[in-house]
Amino acid sequence: MATSSPFRTKTVEQSIRDTEDPEHGLKRALSALDLTVFGVGVIIGTGIFVLTGTVARDTAGPAVAISFVVSGFVCALAALCYAEFSSTVPVAGSAYTFAYTSIGELPAWIIGWDLILELALGAAVVAVGWSGYVQSMLDSADITLPNAINGGTDDDWGFNLPASLLVLLLTVILVFGVKLSSRFTAIIVAVKVTVVLVVIFAGLFFVKADNYSPFIPEKQPQTGPDDGLKQPLIEWMSGFEPTTFGVMGIFFGAATVFFAYIGFDIVASAAEETKRPQRDLPIGILGSLGICTVLYVAVSIVVTGMQHYTELSIDAPLSDAFKAVGHGGWAWVINVGAVAGLMSVTMIMLLGQSRVFFAMSRDGLIPKFFSETHPVYRTPYRSTIALGVVVAVVAGVIPLKELAELVNIGTLFAFVVVSIGVIVLRRTRPDLPRAFRTPWVPVLPIVSVLACLWLMINLPVETWWRFLVWMAAGFVIYFLYSRRNSRLGKAASAAGSGVPGPPRTGADGR
Ligand code: ALA
Repeated sequence: MATSSPFRTKTVEQSIRDTEDPEHGLKRALSALDLTVFGVGVIIGTGIFVLTGTVARDTAGPAVAISFVVSGFVCALAALCYAEFSSTVPVAGSAYTFAYTSIGELPAWIIGWDLILELALGAAVVAVGWSGYVQSMLDSADITLPNAINGGTDDDWGFNLPASLLVLLLTVILVFGVKLSSRFTAIIVAVKVTVVLVVIFAGLFFVKADNYSPFIPEKQPQTGPDDGLKQPLIEWMSGFEPTTFGVMGIFFGAATVFFAYIGFDIVASAAEETKRPQRDLPIGILGSLGICTVLYVAVSIVVTGMQHYTELSIDAPLSDAFKAVGHGGWAWVINVGAVAGLMSVTMIMLLGQSRVFFAMSRDGLIPKFFSETHPVYRTPYRSTIALGVVVAVVAGVIPLKELAELVNIGTLFAFVVVSIGVIVLRRTRPDLPRAFRTPWVPVLPIVSVLACLWLMINLPVETWWRFLVWMAAGFVIYFLYSRRNSRLGKAASAAGSGVPGPPRTGADGR
């Protein structure tokens, strides 16, 4: 590939050298069960704990359960592509690194730029969800934060101070290089799953059949000043008036609850640490997605049965449903579990983000300033702090649903690029060893692309605007800065002019 081309690639060897992480030897130690537990641990979060209530109340009614099935199916297709993508070369880490090796710098940049939406903004979403449960807990102790610092309401904006403080606290922890030990992670997973099971089995006793009527509420016109912008793109393209609920409400809801499944891509990137990837990886990914889908469907059916969908709370719907039926004790248990569980998801996302940022900076695509590691703690402290501050501000000022939709569109777009990448690479680099092969190529990746695009066009027009602005900013930065400063590009032009290229720094991918 021409060295000035935005499709120039790193070699496989280069990528492996770059991401060599002494603490992250690629030992093939993970079993299908390990992957499944890990998957459930990173997947369950704000999606089920918060968005279930919002989507049931405003978009799909009790049929939010069907939205979860639709979204789970789309994720399963994307996951099978993601697994091949990230298992094709022995590089631990994200699709960003792999795209750089295989398809080229610009697609890698697009994926990295999208991963910022997924991980950094995702961390903000989960922090806002966490804040809802903290406030529900305070509420049980008769403490109410003033609107100005509790995130406010639809009509009365307020800064979300608890969410912001959580992000800052976790940032400090990450700078010191504290890691979640596998035992601690296992405990958190157990707490989260237990809480979800408590909701299902304790809640079952308070379900009233009347609350399911109607199960799919009739289509209604959307109201409000911004209804045109809040309208899903597909409805806008077809020239219909903005609506909610009805059969299409199930798909609009699916595009939002997609957030609840984000994290399975992290399982897919563990391919190289899996004992028998061809067998264990699909079991791990599809197993964790399957378990989460069953849990999500069960939780949404129970919660919409406990309280009429129009009355569900949007901040802490699972525990508030128990308060509404007079069982504050169960609400307390759920709040404690949600607070612990959501904190760990926020931390995993912040950590993942700082690594992607670090890798992009090390490659010269964003300023080198961000890839300096701390002299004592050996952590990428500058990128961690810079991101932590931005995420803390975002978590404080933007409402949860709008943030989640932006995360979803960015992540879905990255999956589209990944699914296409699988087909392209089978043709261009059939020689690369593939620890896991996606079945039925090219049919499955094509269906995956279409399914992701379908969810994307079910997102609101305003989300598309924000996404387009984000992508446009990404292209401007790439062509003005990254392309010129890319280490790969500099090395190639130096080689062309006979001047030695920049030395390859030791990369401690953290
Ligand atoms: N799937 C994760 C959540 O719902 C990101 O919080």
